[in-house]
Amino acid sequence: MTFQALDIHKSFGDTEVLKGVSLSMKEGEFVALLGPSGSGKTTLLNIIAGLAHADRGQLLFAGEDITRLPAGQRHFGFVFQNYALFRHMTVAQNIAFGLRVLPRKSRPSRSAIAARTRELLEMIEMADLADRFPAQLSGGQRQRVAMARALAIEPRLLLMDEPFSALDAQVRQSLRESVRDLQRKAGVGAIMVTHDRAEAWALADRVAVMNEGHIVQFDRPEVLSSNPSSDFVRLLVRADAA
Ligand SMILES: Nc1ncnc2c1ncn2[C@@H]1O[C@H](COP(=O)(O)OP(=O)(O)OP(=O)(O)O)[C@@H](O)[C@H]1O
Ligand SMILES: [Mg+2]
Repeated sequence: MTFQALDIHKSFGDTEVLKGVSLSMKEGEFVALLGPSGSGKTTLLNIIAGLAHADRGQLLFAGEDITRLPAGQRHFGFVFQNYALFRHMTVAQNIAFGLRVLPRKSRPSRSAIAARTRELLEMIEMADLADRFPAQLSGGQRQRVAMARALAIEPRLLLMDEPFSALDAQVRQSLRESVRDLQRKAGVGAIMVTHDRAEAWALADRVAVMNEGHIVQFDRPEVLSSNPSSDFVRLLVRADAA
């Protein structure tokens, strides 16, 4: 399914933080939003998620105008920076949560929910930890549960805001691979916010470079490296940049 954001504007008070952002994704594509702090990445992701609203502009999913569709009806999966799991729920209950709270009409049967949960537990290789509580998991394991929870509803689009920022370098590295793997297996498009160039390069089919409320270049990583459109992009995407 294709996703498009068209000419998105957003101000907080007198400050315009998104100044006409457009983004077109192909089916199953993995897009990274890369840019310095304050460039508008989270604001754009929240608008795509339906957690915030644009002042101007349009969002289209598979040709349908979803600009005013409430977040819960967009059928998108989210993974946020602090990947807050429900502390009082086990791993399996966390994963099943999104399915259990669906309106009765679209909610799978109890046995279908259990089967889907088992499948996801296997996908993240945590079947043996199904009955643990979040406090009994490592950061990397929690992150995988958050990913499984987001994928449980079979989202049409997966949205991630700095999903690895709380993890140390080694765990980040290994999780990157499993995220890409999970996203491919699920065949779902993904948008990931990051300010880590290496992360964007490792995961994304295309990278949208943001600066001061604009997408200044949107292309494959190798094109950004070989053909940066400005000094800003050239410096940001240098291999030795943080
Ligand atoms: N609710 C809000 N009210 C007022 N200003 C806001 C609000 N949310 C964000 N901003 C401002 O909008 C700008 C963009 O913020 P945003 O969170 O989108 O940046 P970001 O690119 O995600 O940065 P970071 O990498 O630090 O997370 C910043 O200047 C921020 O201070
Ligand atoms: Mg942010």
